[in-house]
Order: sequence, then structure tokens, then C-alpha cells
Amino acid sequence: MKRKKSGHIPGYDYGTESVSKSPVTLEELRQLEEVVGWTLEEAKWLRVAAETLVPQAEQMVDAWRAVIGQTPQLGASFLKPDGKPDENYKAAVERRFVRWVSDVCLQEHDQAWLDYQEEIGRRHTPSKKNETDGGETPSNVPLRYLIGFSAMIITSAREFLSASERSHEDLTRMQDAWARAVLLSVALWARAYTAEGLW
Ligand code: HEM
Repeated sequence: MKRKKSGHIPGYDYGTESVSKSPVTLEELRQLEEVVGWTLEEAKWLRVAAETLVPQAEQMVDAWRAVIGQTPQLGASFLKPDGKPDENYKAAVERRFVRWVSDVCLQEHDQAWLDYQEEIGRRHTPSKKNETDGGETPSNVPLRYLIGFSAMIITSAREFLSASERSHEDLTRMQDAWARAVLLSVALWARAYTAEGLW
């Protein structure tokens, strides 16, 4: 299916005033980056990876969505009260997910980026799930599935990166940078699930 590639993405509020400031400080972000092994070198390799991944972002999201569709405990997050998938909700989320592939690879880790990580985390929890698209689906993506699914997001990139002409060694660097960036994001998103002082 051909989708619109550019233009305004409904509900995509990156860098806008509708996104609240993250309670995580930039200093805490830098400390977490250190733990994840995120460095300027990793950022460089992820920009190289983006040359191959961003043009395939829709296919990547299609592949992840296929897994969600085949896994009832994941698909449950997209069901209406009548038990049928909310197609409008799914389509709205999909466009922002495609955009995320580019953002995770290319955006600088500044305050706007940090703020949007908190926003994405909240959009998986009762704090904000459904709010953006007016959905009536379950109000929470269980944290265990958010963390567990990162394995899928990380390992599936290898197949898409293999379209690159780069050496095996370079592919490994790109894969590692992708893994670190995904885990860094999920670690930040997890904050929205935790009680004060536990994150
Ligand atoms: C590492 C794993 C995951 C990644 C990278 C990811 C990424 C994203 C992104 C980028 C968005 C859109 C954020 C925005 O509004 O700009 C989103 C929303 C959403 N994701 Fe995830 N996600 C992950 C895991 C999961 C899992 C396991 C589920 C459950 C099936 C899930 C269900 C959803 C839902 C329902 C929304 C829409 C929330 C709303 O605004 O109502 N996600 N996700």
C-alpha cells in the first residue's frame, strides 16, 4: 500500500510546545548514555545506518506490525471494546512509528529529543495512551512487552541493514549502534511506568 511520505503527521508533536518537559535531566540522560555505551562514534555509525534504514522505514514498520498482528497479547493493545482492531488508530500510530525510525537514527539527543522520549513513553501508558488519536483501546502497553519487543526491533534491523554495500565490520558497527539507540530509548520510555524514585 502506498502511503503519504511527507507533510504533517497527525499527533506527531516532536519539538512543539504541546510536549511537556521531561522530568529526566540532560545530565541523567548523559549518565544513561554512558551506561548504554552511546558515544559520538555510535551516533556516527547510526547516521551511516540511516542511509540504509530510513528508505526502508515503511517496510521495517510493516514487518514489526506483522509480528504484532500474529501475537495476540501484542495485538490486544490495538483492539476496540468490541474486540475488533481499531484500523484508524493503527494507521495513525503507524505513520508516527515510520517517522521514529528516522528520528531514532538522526536526531540529536538534546532537550527536545529528551522531552519526546518521555512523551512516547507516556503514550504507551494510561497517562496518555489513546489520547492522541482518540482511541478506545486498552489503556496500557504492558511494560514487559515494551521491553521484550525491543529484542524484535533490534534483531530485525540486521535483515534491513544487509541491503547496505558496506563491509561486514561496518554492518556490525551499525547493528550495535542501532541496538544501543533502541535500548536507550526504551530505558527512557520505561520512566513513565515507574513510581517516583524508582526509575
Ligand atoms: C521497542 C519496542 C517499541 C518501539 C520502538 C515502539 C515505538 C513506538 C512509537 C515510535 C510510537 C509512536 C509515538 C508517537 O506518538 O510519536 C508508538 C506508539 C504505540 N505503540 Fe509502541 N513501540 C514499541 C513497543 C510496543 C509494544 C510491545 C506495543 C504493544 C503491542 C506497542 C504499542 C503501541 C501503541 C498502541 C502505540 C500508540 C499509543 C497511543 O498514542 O495511543 N508498542 N510506539
